[in-house]
Amino acid sequence: MSVDPAISPRSGHTSGLKIPGHLGVIMDGNGRWATARGKPRTEGHVAGVRALRRLVELCIRYGVAHLTVFSFSSENWSRPHEEISFIFALLRRFVATDLESLMSNNVKVRIIGLREGLDPSLCRLIDDVERRTADNTGLNLIVAFNYGGKADIVQATRQIAAEVAAGRLAPSAITEDTINRALYTSGIPDPDVIVRTSGEQRVSNFLLWQGAYAELIFVEENWPDFDENSFLRVLEAYSARDRRFGGVGTFKR
Ligand code: IPE
Ligand code: IPE
Ligand code: MG
Repeated sequence: MSVDPAISPRSGHTSGLKIPGHLGVIMDGNGRWATARGKPRTEGHVAGVRALRRLVELCIRYGVAHLTVFSFSSENWSRPHEEISFIFALLRRFVATDLESLMSNNVKVRIIGLREGLDPSLCRLIDDVERRTADNTGLNLIVAFNYGGKADIVQATRQIAAEVAAGRLAPSAITEDTINRALYTSGIPDPDVIVRTSGEQRVSNFLLWQGAYAELIFVEENWPDFDENSFLRVLEAYSARDRRFGGVGTFKR
């Protein structure tokens, strides 16, 4: 991964476009991409990792502060065992082979999701990449792995309930901020945009609480085909949205 400063957005490349502070991406359509080419689904996941590297570079160049990508959901355990093992091996390989370039690009990595049930050696790898990139100050790359929005709310509720049971927290003192701090995404601002590729129009249990006011953008291309043009079309669509947050907005009537 190399980032060319000559095409930084600060040189005017993205004039007029709003850059989201936090972009969430549901990277969907790897299997269909592969099937359409007569290849096994696993080839689609390999191509999906290439698209992820491309997106990380784009976010750095265009100045996105936080990027959260959905790479394996709590529901994806219902897939064939071989596909699951392949995806897990890909995560290991991504972490191992990309660590140096993530470091040289000042990327800070956080992996959110349930650690229980994951192989201890995978957990050590995840801890290691988080520790080694912890002081980086560039793009925050958040990988949702073994993640489910409902499961996130369950684990947060358990933490809060334990505080209440121990007498350290009154139920009436529970606020939205208490919940924000207990979620896996603690400290990370809510996503401004959630993009889903492959034409499906659903959130499939991604950032349910955090995405309450995210702009949803659905694009037709399968994830491995998501490139700079797709990214620019997302920025254009986002820039045209009128975010109202329950207010009256800026529509000119
Ligand atoms: C997204 O692509 C990757 C994961 C969910 C792990 P899919 O594997 O869901 O591809 P499709 O949706 O079957 O085409
Ligand atoms: C969502 O895609 C999860 C990820 C991209 C990791 P799925 O392919 O699992 O979602 P559904 O089953 O089509 O809703
Ligand atoms: Mg899918």
